[in-house]
Amino acid sequence: MIIQPSEQLRELDQAYHLHPFTNHEEMHAAGTHIIRSAEGRFVIDQDGNRLLDGIAGLWCVNVGYGRHEIVEAVTRQMQELPYYCSFLNSTTQPPILLAERLARLAPARLNHTTFTCSGSEANETALKIIRGYYKLQGQSQKYKILSRTYAYHGVTLATTSMTGLPACYGPFDLPLPGFLQVPGPYHYGANTDLDPVAYGQWCVEETARIIEREGADTIAALFAEPIQGAGGVIVPPEGYLPALRQLCWDHNILFVADEVITGFGRLGDWFASTIWDLDPDLMTMAKGITSGYLPLGATMVSDEVAEVLIRNGYFAHGFTYSGHPTSAAAALANLDILEGEGILPWVRDQIGPYFQRQLKALAEHPAVGEARGDGLIGALEVLPRGGKAALNPKDPMGVKLSVLAREEGVIVRGIRDLIALSPPLTITETEVDFLFTSLRKALDRLW
Ligand SMILES: Cc1ncc(COP(=O)(O)O)c(C=O)c1O
Repeated sequence: MIIQPSEQLRELDQAYHLHPFTNHEEMHAAGTHIIRSAEGRFVIDQDGNRLLDGIAGLWCVNVGYGRHEIVEAVTRQMQELPYYCSFLNSTTQPPILLAERLARLAPARLNHTTFTCSGSEANETALKIIRGYYKLQGQSQKYKILSRTYAYHGVTLATTSMTGLPACYGPFDLPLPGFLQVPGPYHYGANTDLDPVAYGQWCVEETARIIEREGADTIAALFAEPIQGAGGVIVPPEGYLPALRQLCWDHNILFVADEVITGFGRLGDWFASTIWDLDPDLMTMAKGITSGYLPLGATMVSDEVAEVLIRNGYFAHGFTYSGHPTSAAAALANLDILEGEGILPWVRDQIGPYFQRQLKALAEHPAVGEARGDGLIGALEVLPRGGKAALNPKDPMGVKLSVLAREEGVIVRGIRDLIALSPPLTITETEVDFLFTSLRKALDRLW
């Protein structure tokens, strides 16, 4: 591709390109940050700056950039058969092999997969499957969906309705009827005297009260990210997730684990559901399934749910690109890398704990209110001098810190008054040191 001069590209971007989740006036004033290439854990921007990617693209480039194995698998697949659908009683080889592979990796009851192109579509698909599942059994009154404050489940009308972030649903007059929020276990943001574990218990008790109020026989499912990511890296307090899971068992409510961020090694296992023994009825995934090399999402369902769908004939759902062979080929090559290079034990036993130690050492910094995380995911709550983080800040400290961090050579994500970290899983100790040294410099400057 011919490289255009930066200024010319920025002008074209400003004139023609609408970005996702962006304040366009601010971006145009600052100048769009254009990334040109990448290798390993670093991206090179249009102006030649080499930056450590502390958020793996957008929580997705798990095996890092420049993996020729994925590029070659995709090229081979494209040469042989770039596309064929999985409608018309047909399909292709890669999605079959991928579905079988996922069934081996996922919690025991999840053996059936339908594919999508994104996490939003995976959750939207889960919602429709759940509706169908109950309607086919004559229980259409069981339609309400529970999700948690600070949840992020996507951007379609229904998945936005499950997203517990007012900035996402407010502008669109959502949630839709039947979508209810229960408290997410965000202890730091809760202004409570309870300790984190007690606060987690309170969240479960409050969820039980909401179930009681609504009537369990009207509630179809509860969606939960094991670690809430885009809502601010909310790590569940001990005991919270198993108790929430048990509550769903007790009330015959399907439990859906949204593993779009937590899947494929970020916490040192294939899925967080395995770590916390959540035994979900449905599980959704995207991002790390291909390490972001091509778009792909997936919805896995338990044998019980699949049986109801299969027994009842025509499954009237799916996308042109469900089971896209080239995306599935990318996923298979990505899983080979994750497995073949021992990346899961690397995250679980070595680099994850190393990353967490460095992260938590920054808790001592005067500009840090809390450092939290698990595996290769982390957050720093940033304090304005003499204050506590605001839940809806006018001048978010997280964005300010992310701008300073980029000047120090690392990309992190600002959310409200915090920054989120989720580097590629192949990150080395030296690179983790660089990440946190740069962040410390940025924090010093912020303070
Ligand atoms: C937990 C979770 N679910 C769903 C989504 C939506 O995925 P997508 O942006 O691929 O639609 C995201 C995206 O960040 C996510 O973090």
